[in-house]
Order: sequence, then structure tokens, then C-alpha cells
Amino acid sequence: KRENLFKGTHIVVTAGGTREAIDPVRYIGNESSGKMGFALAQVAERLGAQVTLISGPTNLVLPAKSSIQRINIKSVADLQAALDTAVQDADILIMAAAVSDYRVAKIADHKMKKDDFNGELEIKLIENPDILATLKRPDSLRYVVGFAAETNDLIENAQRKILKKNLNMIVANDVGNPQIGFESNQNAVTILRPHQANIELKKNDKSIIAEQILKLIDQEIN
Ligand code: C5P
Repeated sequence: KRENLFKGTHIVVTAGGTREAIDPVRYIGNESSGKMGFALAQVAERLGAQVTLISGPTNLVLPAKSSIQRINIKSVADLQAALDTAVQDADILIMAAAVSDYRVAKIADHKMKKDDFNGELEIKLIENPDILATLKRPDSLRYVVGFAAETNDLIENAQRKILKKNLNMIVANDVGNPQIGFESNQNAVTILRPHQANIELKKNDKSIIAEQILKLIDQEIN
């Protein structure tokens, strides 16, 4: 059933991991499945939002009848370009994508051959821009949410990122725990906001966690 909590609200969600090409057939990627971002996009749609979903490579599909506008990206550069356009008239941005911190300095234009190297191959990486920290935010953009996947010092790291990236909310999850996160259909997270007490969302289906996050966002902006 469709609710009208977010009627007239444009929500941009990024999901999945990015891929940084090494050569035409190889890349550096990460373990993000995209499930949390897809859950957020689909629940936002059900709550009445107009949704743009910018997704890294994933097997996930949206129902044929979905009104979500899906944009597929691979690299961080693709993501940044898609996001710059998508946020133009957006009210809320939820950045659930696992963004590669580094990219390959010089992508080979032919498939690299094992015999071209002597049992050792070095690939030089250069830092990617921090998309959230550098995004030009239009006046319409009222609320920006980041994610923090950490294996240690979860809360301290998330707290630091909220300030560094100028976020209204960060959703922190412990990816060191194999029961939750990444490929799992379930998650357990801590919600941090700049001047409010943290909220623990207990282990639950990602769609339930998504609904809890979106209802908190609604409380914050209304
Ligand atoms: O990778 P990190 O823990 O810093 O990610 C925290 C948040 O920042 C996430 O929402 C992620 O999508 C975003 N991010 C970004 N640009 C990067 C790295 C991460 O916007 N280069």
C-alpha cells in the first residue's frame, strides 16, 4: 500500500559499489550488494516519494511497475556526474553507495598480459574526490544522509564523518559482523545526527531498517 508521507518530495538514493577499471576487463571493486540502497529506494517510493536510484553494478532488479528512475553507473566519476544532475531538484539525498576511495591512475587500453610483467605488477592508484564533501548542494536539498561501514571504532569514525562531510544523519553499520551488512538481507545500524542522541536500530530486514530510517528523516524535516 502506498502512503503519502513523502508526497511531492524528490529523494535521490545511491546504492551498490563502484568499480574502478584497471584495463578493459578488470576492475577494483568492493563487497557492497546494493540491497540497503534498493530497500531505501523502494520504501521511499511506497511512502509517496519521487525517487531517483543511482546504482553501481548489481543483479538487483526493480519491479516492472516501479516508478523509480534508475541510473546505472560504474566508476566514481560516473557516480559523481549522475549525482550532480540528479540532485538539481532533489529534497533529500541518501548516499548508501560504497564509493571507491582510490582509482587507477592510468587505465590500460588493452587487456594486460601476464607475460608483460616479471611475476610482479604494481598498479598506481590516485585518490578519488569525496563526493559528499564536495557536492554542490542546490537550495532544494534539505537533508543529506551518509552511510559509514566500519570494522572498528564504529561510532567514533561515523561521528567524524558527519562533521567532515557536513551531513544531517549518518547510518553506521558494523561490517565486521557477518550476520549483517553487505550480501545479507538483514542489517543492524546506529543512527547518528549532529546534536541528538544516537538511535540503535535492532537487527531486522533491510526493508524494515529502510522504513525506520525514512520515518526518522520525515520527522526531522517536517
Ligand atoms: O567511505 P566512507 O566511510 O568515507 O563513506 C562514508 C560516506 O561517504 C558514504 O555515504 C559514502 O557513500 C560517501 N563517500 C563519498 N565519496 C567518497 C567516499 C565515500 O561520498 N569518495
